[in-house]
Amino acid sequence: MSRLVIVSNRVADLRSSSQSGGLAVGLADALRARGGIWFGWDGTISDGPAAPALDDIGPVRTIAAPLTPADYDEYYVGFANSVLWPLFHYRLDLVDYRAEFHDGYMRVNARLAETLRPELRADDVIWVHDYHLIPFAACLRARGCRQRIGFFLHIPFPPPDLLTATPNHGALIEALLEYDVVGFQTSGDAANLKRYLSEQLCREVRDDGRVDKGGRSVLVERFPIGIDVAAFAEMARQPSSEVELDTLRQRILGRKQIIGVDRLDYSKGLPERLTAFERLLTRHPELERAVSLLQIAPPTREDVSAYPAIRKELEGMTGSINGRFADINWTPVRYIHRAVPRERLASLFRASQVGLVTPLRDGMNLVAKEYVAAQDPDDPGVLVLSQFAGAAEELQEALIVNPYDADDVADRLHEALTMPRDERRDRHTALYDRILRQDAQAWLERFLARLDEVGDAPAGSGAARPEPLPAEAARRPNHSS
Ligand code: G6P
Repeated sequence: MSRLVIVSNRVADLRSSSQSGGLAVGLADALRARGGIWFGWDGTISDGPAAPALDDIGPVRTIAAPLTPADYDEYYVGFANSVLWPLFHYRLDLVDYRAEFHDGYMRVNARLAETLRPELRADDVIWVHDYHLIPFAACLRARGCRQRIGFFLHIPFPPPDLLTATPNHGALIEALLEYDVVGFQTSGDAANLKRYLSEQLCREVRDDGRVDKGGRSVLVERFPIGIDVAAFAEMARQPSSEVELDTLRQRILGRKQIIGVDRLDYSKGLPERLTAFERLLTRHPELERAVSLLQIAPPTREDVSAYPAIRKELEGMTGSINGRFADINWTPVRYIHRAVPRERLASLFRASQVGLVTPLRDGMNLVAKEYVAAQDPDDPGVLVLSQFAGAAEELQEALIVNPYDADDVADRLHEALTMPRDERRDRHTALYDRILRQDAQAWLERFLARLDEVGDAPAGSGAARPEPLPAEAARRPNHSS
């Protein structure tokens, strides 16, 4: 089996035991099984020239490089998070395009490719993750690399009309065709790329999702991401004295809890969620003192200008709802602007009668799947899920809502809070079955299987990898491409 090379903007800390994110763990397991490298940014900013740090953990090597202040501003804060993030989340109003951001993005991708190239072996399989690194394969190819390279986009992919609002869109999307497999969270995302390819780049997309480019073919497919269901369910079953105390108090007071957990990002629909919760309390006065919303929203990307604004808005709304409804022993909205450890989150999910996941646009949203995994199957809570989360394509037994429609969300919240136990059980059984079938392992294996297949296709199918150009082959050292 070929060695695996994972490339992502942030390199997971494989030594830390608190590093318990399902996805990172799944990828780390795959690396351990096949041997390989995890390569990317170490999360620091360094003024002077700094060599990437290498760390060998058994058969896995992590290579993590710092960014310069200009890289951080132009590549990370700039093009990745002030252009691509809002654009791919359908928020053209928040796109802050500047030529230097684009230059920085291309420069950092090229430099990272240059750093990785000498570490590569000819038969490595390379898997690149997310919007920070779209041109990464093109940068490797320009340096003579012919390995199989796959790309997975964790966030949504917008329709062509939105994409074309950004300069350089043609080159950006053309660069995707340097990969062998391009994976998306939903069929809608994959369809958006296919539409762009045929409408804007006049490329034919075959029924099997393949697009020809320079004598080979690129596979465009949906690979919905999942979680490690068993591990998260087990975590939720572990007793947590703090949560248990809170649960006991709620039970004595006959109170139910709605929970939301999101990075404090404008794509998560948090102000709209608070409006809907306020609408619920206004329309159902009997719920006063009987329900509370626990919103955990840790800070994120505070150097990106759109983020402080959303924090201010959320804090203002929380204060206003609590000012209007709170009683001496009831706070309707409990808002936590700090990260909460995953084990605690798992217990909180299990202790909450409703999981409220209402992004305005989201690639998948793994919180939705974690909420399902954490429930007590005998007395489960109800998931209220935005139609604009990628997870809605799969989790059809959730109560699906339009997050822009406060009345709709308030009605579904009321339905969730009053749903009979039999119905809750039926819905939960179906949802649990879905997240189990499409868990992190299944996602990973299916993507890697597709990538491993590249080059195995029969001659004439167009799927074989191209021969290197003579000049490239001559330049190519034995082990680097
Ligand atoms: C999203 C992106 C990830 C990113 C994460 C945290 O989930 O898809 O690629 O790592 O947000 O954002 P940050 O900017 O802190 O890495």
